[in-house]
Amino acid sequence: MAKTDTRRLVRPHLADVQTYKSIDPPEVLARRAGIPESKIVKLNGNENPYGPSPKAVEAVAGAPLHIYPDPQQRKMRQSLSEYTGLGAEHLIAGAGSDELIDLLFRLFIEPGDRILDFDPTFAMYAFCARVCGGDLTMLQRNELFEIDMETVRASIDDRAKIVFVSSPNNPTGNLLPDSQVKELLDTGLIVVVDEAYFEFCGHTVAELVPEYSNLVVLRTMSKWAGLAGLRVGYGIMSPDIVSHLMDIKSPYNVNVAGEAALLASLDDAPALLENVGKIVAERTRLQGILEEMPGITPWPSEGNFILCQMPDAAGAQRVYDELAGRGVFVRNFGSDRLQDCFRVAVGTPAETDAFVEALREVVR
Ligand SMILES: Cc1ncc(COP(=O)(O)O)c(C=O)c1O
Repeated sequence: MAKTDTRRLVRPHLADVQTYKSIDPPEVLARRAGIPESKIVKLNGNENPYGPSPKAVEAVAGAPLHIYPDPQQRKMRQSLSEYTGLGAEHLIAGAGSDELIDLLFRLFIEPGDRILDFDPTFAMYAFCARVCGGDLTMLQRNELFEIDMETVRASIDDRAKIVFVSSPNNPTGNLLPDSQVKELLDTGLIVVVDEAYFEFCGHTVAELVPEYSNLVVLRTMSKWAGLAGLRVGYGIMSPDIVSHLMDIKSPYNVNVAGEAALLASLDDAPALLENVGKIVAERTRLQGILEEMPGITPWPSEGNFILCQMPDAAGAQRVYDELAGRGVFVRNFGSDRLQDCFRVAVGTPAETDAFVEALREVVR
């Protein structure tokens, strides 16, 4: 049998690509901590502690798993139209908003095209830029994690095509002001406003979509609707961009279980939004507790997580490790900007209590 050196065939820019630092599943975390899975407190993925709607679970159980899903996503787009108040022609669903981020790169970015991104933020934009061979311009947010429009304008040339902003920003928790969204839109670049945490703040720029053909708003069912494991997200944008994305997506990108869960969740939105209300109330309580803790600076957050800053990187690493040793998992970051920080998701009141108790023990 011939032995081919497949490495030689890999596209050069992907041979040693820096991959996405993802989170491990509960059983792996539990094994690492040496405690039963049922005892761990998992606050590292901004997941919904209340889980999905029981109606979504029922719908998934009854979904026609032997039939391919609708490639045109007719029912999902109609239902999303009722939820968002925008016409179905403005909507497209993806296997998580992650897939839509990837599709936007495939649609707009050729090797060498420029992407503007704002550090610190959700690492998926930079990851997709690397995978497609784009030229990533990582602009630094200021000391309040805001973006500076002067720097943005100075960074634009004829290879600049797309700008990504998460609002609220993961992991810093702050919103992008509407005035800056409009300034970004006026640059003429494609402006992607990632509203993964929309339901936790109630603030959106989706109503600008009919007016601005270069605006793309991304949303997800992972956070507010508790469907992270099923991978369902959606985007709101001009019918023209929707049509291009429809043309290039894999035909059956959202599976029938995801479709059934999305439809049932939107039907059950009032109950799911009650859970969102509980998470928002818990965020306020957790913020208050953290503010009283010596050595921790919690940043205000509009999402379902709080960024906690420590006096130095070594301290943050020690807290992260010692929390993990006690079965409490938060998110840490490799980047220079966030070396002295960790991010904690807002869980149930019992999870907050367990996290706070462990944190008190390890913050010395
Ligand atoms: C800002 C932001 N966008 C998108 C996502 C991914 O969402 P999905 O689960 O829909 O792929 C996340 C997940 O943490 C996120 O924080």
